Amino acid sequence: MTNAADVRVWAVVPAAGIGERMASDCPKQYLELGGRSILEHALRRVAGHPRVRGVLPVIREGDPFWPGVRRRLGDLARLLPEVPGGASRQDSVGQGLAGLEPLAPEDLVLIHDAVRPCLGEAEIDAVIDAARDGHGSILAVPVADTLKRVTDGQQIEATVDRSQLWRAQTPQVFPAGPLKAALEMAREREWPATDEASIMEAAGYTVGIAPGRVDNLKITRPEDLSIARAVLESRWSG
Ligand code: CTP
Ligand code: MG
Repeated sequence: MTNAADVRVWAVVPAAGIGERMASDCPKQYLELGGRSILEHALRRVAGHPRVRGVLPVIREGDPFWPGVRRRLGDLARLLPEVPGGASRQDSVGQGLAGLEPLAPEDLVLIHDAVRPCLGEAEIDAVIDAARDGHGSILAVPVADTLKRVTDGQQIEATVDRSQLWRAQTPQVFPAGPLKAALEMAREREWPATDEASIMEAAGYTVGIAPGRVDNLKITRPEDLSIARAVLESRWSG
């Protein structure tokens, strides 16, 4: 078993998406909540955690919005130089990992969406702790709604048992060696994936979960903004 103080934790924040579903004038990670862009919130949340050694933002090449955010971050401790993203989230995370060289295989890599600004310190601790002695862990919450299968977009075909279903969030934390191997396998075999855990699972690793909070929202659609604003205000007074 590893001692908590011995494990090095590095963070990658993929922020190279275009936010198609949000359909705003700028990519959604640059929308403001309480006077700060969503990306700035996310980077500050992760960089401010005492167990994180460095945070690497992954930014779309030529992104005109990043320089302003970078300036506002100023001399934020542990912020590493950004690297260019790729066409898919998976590619962007791969680029981030490559940018963290030299990484020891046993170092932990924490991946956190740029569009989850409402992440607390306790949740970061929980997911790191759960990842330390295995092949990784993710924050997740049990599904609360009743689930319906609708194949034609109109009529209910079945009610799906939700008792064993969890919603995956980020951070997702994995040892660097297995994560690199799994990402490489996914690239070669063209596995589609919306998170890193699914790639680790497909590569045969066992990934744990750390129970998270429902208010660690992923900003996806316009209606998510007012909810996130309220969460930020109630948890951190804006
Ligand atoms: N992401 C990335 N590189 C990509 C695609 C996505 O770094 N090529 C990042 C996004 O910036 C975001 C995270 O992955 O921080 C989660 O993705 P998602 O919420 O799907 O963001 P978008 O892909 O930007 O949104 P959409 O799918 O609606 O276009
Ligand atoms: Mg996307």
